[in-house]
Amino acid sequence: MKKQQLRGQNAAVTGASSGIGRATALALAGQGVNLALIARNRERLEAVAEEARALGVRAEVFVADTTDEAAVKAAVEGALERFGRLDIFHCNAGIYLRCPARDLTMEQIRHMFETNFYGTLRCTYAVLPHFIRQGRGTLVVTVSMDGKKGVPPDAAYVATKFALNGFMQVLRQELRGTGVRVVTVFPSRTDTPQIEFVDCPAVTAKVSPQRVAEAIVRAVAGRKKEVMVPAGACRLLVWADAVSPSLGDWMIRAFRLDGRENGKPPVEEKGLNR
Ligand SMILES: NC(=O)c1ccc[n+]([C@@H]2O[C@H](COP(=O)([O-])OP(=O)(O)OC[C@H]3O[C@@H](n4cnc5c(N)ncnc54)[C@H](OP(=O)(O)O)[C@@H]3O)[C@@H](O)[C@H]2O)c1
Repeated sequence: MKKQQLRGQNAAVTGASSGIGRATALALAGQGVNLALIARNRERLEAVAEEARALGVRAEVFVADTTDEAAVKAAVEGALERFGRLDIFHCNAGIYLRCPARDLTMEQIRHMFETNFYGTLRCTYAVLPHFIRQGRGTLVVTVSMDGKKGVPPDAAYVATKFALNGFMQVLRQELRGTGVRVVTVFPSRTDTPQIEFVDCPAVTAKVSPQRVAEAIVRAVAGRKKEVMVPAGACRLLVWADAVSPSLGDWMIRAFRLDGRENGKPPVEEKGLNR
């Protein structure tokens, strides 16, 4: 597979202040990619920008909440103004809610969709016309293995990720021939603040955000459409579930893919009312 040269390209990353977004931003910086870093927390974004600049690239901070359409548009326009063009846009910002389906409220479910699904689409629609005009661009979307197989007790989160997976599968096909690519990313449980309050057994240990970031960079450079991390175990689960949903459900139980809460508090998220 022919590799794309990334050095000198410009990327925007949402949710760049932490976890997978931060790791991907720094991995891209390591490849010589300039960065527009987007999230809500300015202080954490500035710290990531400093780390990226130390790797020799330009890094600019744009504070935006992806649930706010005007703020997203302003961030994308600001990045285009500063850099002249964007080559890569990583829609990564997302939140997690661990709650059995029967205890969820409609408000919580809507809140999850506002960030994980509509937030991603706000970013997509803000950058897509630019990508189409320039006849090139890579849209990277952090989905989750929860967007391939539902794991309890994540029903609201799973629903947002299945919706994203479906939308992006169609967008990818519709953009064929335009020069614009869509890369969907399906990490398994990853060691970030988002799930610090959940422990996983050794057999399904959390992967590092750096491992996810490296897989993303390889996919962007290598022109892949989908990335699963860790690839082997995730493919096995997808295959088992396709053969028989009972086998897929059994794998979730047998390998304790739901993990166990360890007593630490989940990341504070206004609007989830936990
Ligand atoms: N950790 C996992 O096990 C795992 C597995 C598969 C997929 N994922 C997905 O990976 C993505 C990144 O999560 P992570 O694990 O890296 O968690 P994380 O460390 O908590 O990072 C989440 C990022 O999203 C940003 N964010 C959240 N809501 C936002 C909003 N409304 N507007 C703008 N930025 C927002 C946060 O920044 P601010 O608070 O500064 O805004 C932060 O930078 C998410 O989409 C998540 O669903 C995670």
